[in-house]
Amino acid sequence: MNHRLTTLISGLTIVLLSAFAGAATLDDEIRERLRPAGTVCLIGDACAAGAAVASVPGGPRTGEAIYNTSCVACHATGISESPILGNAAQWEPRLAKGTDVLYTNSINGINVMPPRGTCVDCSDDEMRAAVDFMLDAL
Ligand code: HEC
Repeated sequence: MNHRLTTLISGLTIVLLSAFAGAATLDDEIRERLRPAGTVCLIGDACAAGAAVASVPGGPRTGEAIYNTSCVACHATGISESPILGNAAQWEPRLAKGTDVLYTNSINGINVMPPRGTCVDCSDDEMRAAVDFMLDAL
């Protein structure tokens, strides 16, 4: 092999290698651009610092949250004649007692309805919020 040919081949090799190097960079660039825009950020991660959280641990829960945890089992099904969420005819005679009586009965229980609807760690305010959530559904 003469010297000129060797130089030509090594020159071509360099051109080819740099083409591949270029391709790799382009691939990376495409991968970067196709990356999902959002990343999952969990409470406690540095990325979550300062983010608004839905509820403060230990703070009052919403009426809806309590309903969905403690009341839904009976009040969505009507078991033992529980007035069903959103059923105006079933709630009408109860509403006639006045909201304060409904709050008190939900806290102390009434007949088959257990005290605090079994939500033993519900505060009175949280119980009132849960009742309000149920009455707002009417
Ligand atoms: C184990 C089933 C059960 C669970 C759980 C339950 N309830 Fe009830 N609830 C009943 C029944 C049954 C009644 C009807 C009681 C009656 O009037 O004889 C009732 C009635 C009520 C009433 C109407 C009271 C009145 O004076 O007419 C309210 C308000 C109420 N429940 C709120 C709640 C809330 C808020 C929760 C959740 C924190 C809850 N309940 C969980 C069974 C349940």
